[in-house]
Amino acid sequence: MTSQAISKDEIQLVYLSERCANTDEAAINKIKLRAEHNNHRRNITGALLFTEHYFLQYLEGEAAIVDALYASICRDKRHTNARLLLRKPITQRDFSRWSLGVKKLLDNEENQDLIAVLNMIGQASKVTESQLDWFKLALQ
Ligand SMILES: Cc1cc2nc3c(=O)[nH]c(=O)nc-3n(C[C@H](O)[C@H](O)[C@H](O)COP(=O)(O)O)c2cc1C
Repeated sequence: MTSQAISKDEIQLVYLSERCANTDEAAINKIKLRAEHNNHRRNITGALLFTEHYFLQYLEGEAAIVDALYASICRDKRHTNARLLLRKPITQRDFSRWSLGVKKLLDNEENQDLIAVLNMIGQASKVTESQLDWFKLALQ
């Protein structure tokens, strides 16, 4: 993964939300197609990780545009309880190649630690940036 130098007032935002029971993989694919198109148009990059219960999404781009998108995502009925985990200024993007990379985190042995951390974050009130870095690595 290459990082791309940027010049504007850009941020990285990460949130965790709970997947609604009827948001199946076909629904997620629909989100992906629409999001790729929209994000490309808005110069937003990012990645979406999903498990049986959760979504974890990274969004990067100009602050006002990312904030507006996040506000609209929070109103989306395909998930619930969106919780902001991180919002920070950036000078480089971590997902510069993807309008929206989407990855399913499988519940296999290899991913047990990540799933455990995700479940913990889902229930805890705080998350550290180093915990989030694990997900960043899994997504890149
Ligand atoms: C988990 C999740 C992630 C989403 N991510 C994005 C995204 O990265 N970009 C985007 O434009 N819409 C995303 N959406 C969809 C938005 O909530 C909203 O439906 C969409 O932006 C509306 O686009 P439209 O006005 O082009 O129909 C996401 C929805 C969910 C449930």
